[in-house]
Amino acid sequence: MKLVSKHEGFAELLVPEKIEEDGKIRKAEVFYNPVMEIERDISILAFQSYQKEIGKNIKICDLMTGCGARGVRYALEIKGIEKVIINDLNPSAISLAKRNVIRNKIDKKVSLKCFDSNVILNMYAIPRNRFDIIDIDPFGSPAPYLDSAVRAIKNGGLLAITATDLAPLCGAKPIACRRKYGGKPLRTEYCHEIGARILIGSLVSIAARNDLAIKILLCYHSHHFTRVYASINRGILAANKCLKEMGYIAHCFDCLNREIFDKLSKIKSSCNVCGKKFSFAGPLWLEELYDKDFCRIMLDELEKRSFNRKFEAQKILREILVEKQECLLFYAVDKICSKLKIKTISVKEVIKELELRGFENSITHFHKAGFRTNAKIFELKSILKELSMRRAQK
Ligand SMILES: C[S@@+](CC[C@H](N)C(=O)[O-])C[C@H]1O[C@@H](n2cnc3c(N)ncnc32)[C@H](O)[C@@H]1O
Ligand SMILES: [Zn+2]
Repeated sequence: MKLVSKHEGFAELLVPEKIEEDGKIRKAEVFYNPVMEIERDISILAFQSYQKEIGKNIKICDLMTGCGARGVRYALEIKGIEKVIINDLNPSAISLAKRNVIRNKIDKKVSLKCFDSNVILNMYAIPRNRFDIIDIDPFGSPAPYLDSAVRAIKNGGLLAITATDLAPLCGAKPIACRRKYGGKPLRTEYCHEIGARILIGSLVSIAARNDLAIKILLCYHSHHFTRVYASINRGILAANKCLKEMGYIAHCFDCLNREIFDKLSKIKSSCNVCGKKFSFAGPLWLEELYDKDFCRIMLDELEKRSFNRKFEAQKILREILVEKQECLLFYAVDKICSKLKIKTISVKEVIKELELRGFENSITHFHKAGFRTNAKIFELKSILKELSMRRAQK
């Protein structure tokens, strides 16, 4: 494996060289994706903010490290680290991660392990051994590791989860979604929000089995993955409360109306706007996706850093801070315009009009053409028709 040097944050990493064969990138023996640098930056902001909040030294597990990029950066860039445990099942990954640990002079802060994720998590599940933070960054679904992860985390600890299996979560593979996450997805224009809520819903039920509750600090979607940061807290009452915050979404593909139900048995079979058949998604998480105070601390932390791609992290966090998350399930302006058979209108214009008419409104980081509002679909359609007519008269 030919290696090249890469600079990320404070780290000087040796990473596999990108090799192109017949116009395609050849899969390297050890995984490294430069595009995910920004996600590693955001993880550093989240973990540092969490460390400051609890005010003591923390033990982090980089469960699936690849070449060691995350673990090495956590040890170098987060203040208040007691230990970083870097693990991967692939021995070549761990040899390269070891070289990166030595190269960055952090061997005293780091332990390297080469186990299956569930084995290492179970080894650390004994009460005094547990982690403050576990970072799960697998190929595809995190589902096989969530059970062990909630048991290997301290009370009040932080779990960071990446899911790249968007085909199941967002509705292209509904049977796989049922199997992995116990929820039914739906291919709507807001399927990425549904997917994120199904992933969180699955975490809620796994945590509840262990008398644990979750609190979502941050959840966001990027082009090919969803990332969730959740704190895990012991308590039967809190776990029961989380279960109560689960429910279902009914969606009408004919008129784009959507309704929320707390129980499957309560979902109506036909749409209350047009009378056509309702489709549904769930069970899924119906509560908040962001703790905005936490996101603000992350943004303050970002101001002090000089990441290579600082502005991209800033953009995501700033968009999240203005999202009206109490308006569940965003709309997509292009989808409504296409139903109305009118030329698409800009989100900015729609938001301005919603503001003038006194509706709650905001953009959403989930979708370029997306917006959140408390206006109902029939109200939105009449607003969009009017905006289209006004444009035609100009
Ligand atoms: C997406 S890559 C991780 C990328 C890395 N976190 C980063 O930011 O560069 C997934 C890694 O999981 C490892 N892996 C796959 N199955 C595993 C398992 N059951 N236990 C531990 N590691 C595993 C692979 O060898 C691979 O290095
Ligand atoms: Zn309808």
